[in-house]
Amino acid sequence: MSQHPPRTAYRAKLLTFAGDPATKAGGACFEEDGLLIVEGERVLAAGSYASLRSQLTPDTAVVERPGKLIAPGFIDTHVHYPQTEMIASPAAGLLPWLDTYTFPTERGFADPAHATSVADFFLDQLVACGTTTALVYCTVHMGSADALFQASEARNLRMVAGKVLMDRNCPEFLRDTAQSGYDDSAALIERWHKRGRQLYALTPRFAPTSTPEQLEACGALARLHPDVFIQSHVSENTDEVKWVAELFPGHRSYLGVYEHYGLLRRRAVYGHCIYLDDHDRARMAETGAVASHCPTSNLFLGSGLFDFDKAGASGMPVALGTDVGGGTSFSMLQTMNEAHKVARMTGHHLTAARMFWLATAGAAQALGLDDTIGTLRAGAEADFIVLDPEATPLLARRTALAQSPEEWLFAFAMLGDDRAVLETYAAGKRVHRRA
Ligand code: GUN
Ligand code: ZN
Repeated sequence: MSQHPPRTAYRAKLLTFAGDPATKAGGACFEEDGLLIVEGERVLAAGSYASLRSQLTPDTAVVERPGKLIAPGFIDTHVHYPQTEMIASPAAGLLPWLDTYTFPTERGFADPAHATSVADFFLDQLVACGTTTALVYCTVHMGSADALFQASEARNLRMVAGKVLMDRNCPEFLRDTAQSGYDDSAALIERWHKRGRQLYALTPRFAPTSTPEQLEACGALARLHPDVFIQSHVSENTDEVKWVAELFPGHRSYLGVYEHYGLLRRRAVYGHCIYLDDHDRARMAETGAVASHCPTSNLFLGSGLFDFDKAGASGMPVALGTDVGGGTSFSMLQTMNEAHKVARMTGHHLTAARMFWLATAGAAQALGLDDTIGTLRAGAEADFIVLDPEATPLLARRTALAQSPEEWLFAFAMLGDDRAVLETYAAGKRVHRRA
């Protein structure tokens, strides 16, 4: 009888990281003939086949994936599951888009059966795109968070999610109150935070839809639960920034409003961060709050261009998000594609190594989950994907001509989408295989 949980080994090319490729010490580590050994839900070892083959016990099944790439599962740091079905809804910018499409759509999540149906479809889409962890906005309804967490738990995915807090400047049917939002969030933390792989995020939608009393109450909950996540939007759109200045006079900046209420800290993740100034970026860096860059959404809604040079100079943590339904794809490969182009518009060259880092290990580090996900290091949870360089005829031709791992990975980022994801594994179990 074996003394350990079942072991499976996967032989393919491997992608891991020594640290942020934008830094001297960092970089991507590419193993041409690699082996990933999984024991139960965790990684036992990863490295070259030559160095690990002696560790293959007779009871270890070996899955051969010649020519394919194993990478950590993608981490999407900003996405709205209730907006799945309203993706690709055009509007003249963020605020009209919220009024015309978003709020009416989110009303439907008062119905738990509808919430469950969309949550299931949403998670299927995520794993089909190779995303194994996401920071997910639910709606104002408590049941919308229960539905998402239940669907995630059933797949044993590591998800971070929260009920939206919103007590003004939205339709009456979507409002909570400072007190009910506090009570519901506290109950959801109790029910879901660290239950299996689930983690909770306090989710004030954005400053305009919360009263000062609600932000105060959210800050109080954040202080009570220092390891709970916080997620919101900041400085996405010029009309929004003006509106916040009117609603919250006397604050140094939009980000300053969140700081005032105790919502800037590690594990606080802010979507967009386009119109921050240098002082704001410095405060993000000092507090460890994370900027989630959402390029497909920023282009689709005409919000603006994220500045990678200024973000890098400030030292603030950065990760990538799809922001569906403002975003136009669940694929982190498509998100890399547009991140690259947005960076180019500000004269910044975003390498493939860095884009894959931002979508995996870099995100995990920014979220304080780097021992757990986003890595193939021994002991980590075995969330990984198998990418296919021949997924489409064009990708096959381009990858065949790549002169370096960087060029090869770059082709995935520019040409890839869900078709490039052959398989997705969560906690050692396969949760998707391409049809
Ligand atoms: N700001 C407030 N709510 C939202 C939302 O749902 N999507 C985006 N992109 N921005 C927001
Ligand atoms: Zn968003």
